[in-house]
Amino acid sequence: MKRFRRLRANSQIRRLVRETSVSRADLIYPIFVAEGENIKNPVDSMPGIYQYSVDRLDEILIQISQSKIPGLLVFGIPKHKDELASSAYDSNGITQRAIRHIKSKYPDMLVIADVCLCEYTSHGHCGVVKDSKILNDETLPLLSKMAVSLAQSGADIIAPSDMMDGRVAAIRQALDENGFIDIPIMSYSAKFSSAYYSPFRDAAESAPCFGDRKTYQMDYANGREALREIEDDISEGADIVMVKPALAYLDVIKEARRYGYPLAAYNVSGEYSMVKAAAQNGWVDEKRIVMENLTAIKRAGADIIITYHALDAAKWLEEDI
Ligand code: PBG
Ligand code: ZN
Repeated sequence: MKRFRRLRANSQIRRLVRETSVSRADLIYPIFVAEGENIKNPVDSMPGIYQYSVDRLDEILIQISQSKIPGLLVFGIPKHKDELASSAYDSNGITQRAIRHIKSKYPDMLVIADVCLCEYTSHGHCGVVKDSKILNDETLPLLSKMAVSLAQSGADIIAPSDMMDGRVAAIRQALDENGFIDIPIMSYSAKFSSAYYSPFRDAAESAPCFGDRKTYQMDYANGREALREIEDDISEGADIVMVKPALAYLDVIKEARRYGYPLAAYNVSGEYSMVKAAAQNGWVDEKRIVMENLTAIKRAGADIIITYHALDAAKWLEEDI
C-alpha cells in the first residue's frame, strides 16, 4: 500500500512538501480614486473597498506601503464624462493627478495604470460609439493618447483592459514615439465578458448605459480563443499577459503558461464580493477561503495576482511566517 499520509503527519512536514506558495511579492491591490474632496465612499457591493479622493488617498497608500506588496492598480473616476472620453487623456484628469500624487509620496510603489475608456465615456462603453456600435479602429488613437498621458504622469506599467483588436501594438508604438520605450505593457489579453464584474462597475461607476460588452470581451465558453488572444498580444509587444477573471478560468491560466511570459490573473470584484458576503454571514472562514483561492490561482500558473484581498492576505502571510 502506498502511504501518502506519511507526508501529511504534522504541520512541519506539510510545510516541507508544499508545492505552491503565495508571497506578498505576487500581489497587486486595485484602488479607486474619485474626483472631489474629502471623499472616502464605501462601495456597497464590495465590503472593505472605498473610493478615495486624492486628498485622502494617503489613508490607503500607507497601508499598501506597509503591506510590502509591490504596488497597486489605479482606476480613476472622473466627474466629467463625454462621448470621446476626454478626461481619460487630460493631463489634469483624475487618474493623472492620482498617479502624480502616489509617485511623489511613494516613488518606489509600482503604479499600474488601467487603460480603458469606460470610466470616462458618457455611454460607459470601452470604445468610441457610433450608431450603437462600438468602433475598434477609431478607439485605438484614444487609448494610445491615454496610455501616453498616464506614462507622462508617472505610471510604471500600462495595462490596457478594453479588448479592442490591435491595441497593444498601437499603444506600444505611441509609448515608444513619446520616449517611453522602457514602460512595460501588461495586457488584459484574455478578458472574458463576465457577470463577475458587476461590483466593479458600482465601484468605478462604469456600467454601459445600453447593451453589453459581448462584442469586444470574450465569450466565457472559449478557451482556445483565449490562447489565440494571448499569443497575438505577445506578438504585438505585450510584456505581461493577463487572464481575467481568475477562479472560473484556472484552465485558461494553466494553458497560458506555455508562452513563458509573466502571467497575471485578476481575481475580480465578484469573486471578492462572494467571499466577503459568505464570510460576513459566518458561512465560511474568510482567511482560509482567501488563502485557498489565492494558492489555487498560483497553482494553476499565475505569477501575479491582482486582488482586492491583497492587504488582508499580506497581513495573514506575515503572521504565518
Ligand atoms: C474596465 C475594467 C473592468 C474591470 C477592470 N477594468 C470592468 C469591465 O470590463 O466592465 C473589472 C475588474 C473587476 O471586476 O474587479 N474595462
Ligand atoms: Zn472598459
